[in-house]
Amino acid sequence: MNNDYPTKVSLFEVGPRDGLQNEKAQVSTEDKLHFIALLSKAGLARIEAGSFVSAKWVPQMADSKAVFERLPRQDSVVYSALTPNLKGLDAALEAGAQEVAVFGSASEAFSQKNINCSINESLNRFEPVISKATAAGIKVRGYVSCVLGCPYEGDIGPSAVADVTDRLINMGCYEVALGDTIGTGTPRKTAAMLEAVLAKQPATRLAVHFHDTYGQALANILIALQHHITTIDSAAGGLGGCPYARGASGNVATEDVLYMLEGMGIETGVDLSALVQASRFIADVIGRPVNAKVAQALSTQ
Ligand code: HMG
Ligand code: MG
Repeated sequence: MNNDYPTKVSLFEVGPRDGLQNEKAQVSTEDKLHFIALLSKAGLARIEAGSFVSAKWVPQMADSKAVFERLPRQDSVVYSALTPNLKGLDAALEAGAQEVAVFGSASEAFSQKNINCSINESLNRFEPVISKATAAGIKVRGYVSCVLGCPYEGDIGPSAVADVTDRLINMGCYEVALGDTIGTGTPRKTAAMLEAVLAKQPATRLAVHFHDTYGQALANILIALQHHITTIDSAAGGLGGCPYARGASGNVATEDVLYMLEGMGIETGVDLSALVQASRFIADVIGRPVNAKVAQALSTQ
């Protein structure tokens, strides 16, 4: 760790997927498309726009095919989709996803609850997904959930996180997002987890994905920046959670991350006021206030 911060950070926007998958309100395809258009207008260049999973498990994502088919194609934005298996990958490819993601876990119990198989089975299932996507010229992102704690198992050791991350990257994922699914992590724990992962893989291969359940996300992101990690996942307006992690609240709000990065002189290419417009739009659609401190502060000015 040191205090040299990166000069540039890539924000990976997960609001349309991680955010909306856990909102009670069923958002129409039209509104999802408008939300995504506002996000890209704000300068977000990597947007997770949906997931190709069982509609019985996550009904909020049932229209991902329609969303992807109607997304405006523009060179400046990459739209990504979650694909847990070959069925999901085939549907994502058909709908025109430019990037896909497999999602594993450092916790056995969470793996079972979330994708109905063990960690090993999940990695075996991901192998053909990664090979087929790569052969089709599609980049594959990986996720590891429960990197700082599990809703069913409690503490998760850093070495379990490092092992799954290493395996995903060795199987062909270009980047792995380390997910604090239930937002229980604190800075020293984050540092220990990152140091275990960084002993096996370089920072350029890693992203951090914090849910802000306990208000720790920005502190943990600062630790990640100190460890030279330059990709941060976040959701506009602090949308979301995870349907298979009891108590998981929204992702860290993109506005809050952006404000911190701007204040530190770190470039992202994202415009804060345009981003707040996107958050306000989707908050109105789902009928609740924007869950981002910075958006709230700006609304009183
Ligand atoms: P399964 O029941 O073990 O799978 O589910 P199966 O192969 O036995 O199939 C069962 C049924 O699902 C069949 O349909 C399949 O056709 C269908 P039926 O015959 O019953 O009508 N099916 C599918 N349908 C659509 N798309 C597919 C697909 N695959 C099978 N790709 C499965 C396994 C993974 C599909 C299931 O467990 C599932 O969909 N889980 C959803 C998991 C999910 O989306 N969780 C939330 C995202 S992860 C997350 O939020 C964490 C993250 O943000 C990081 C962090 O915060 O830590 C990424
Ligand atoms: Mg998540």
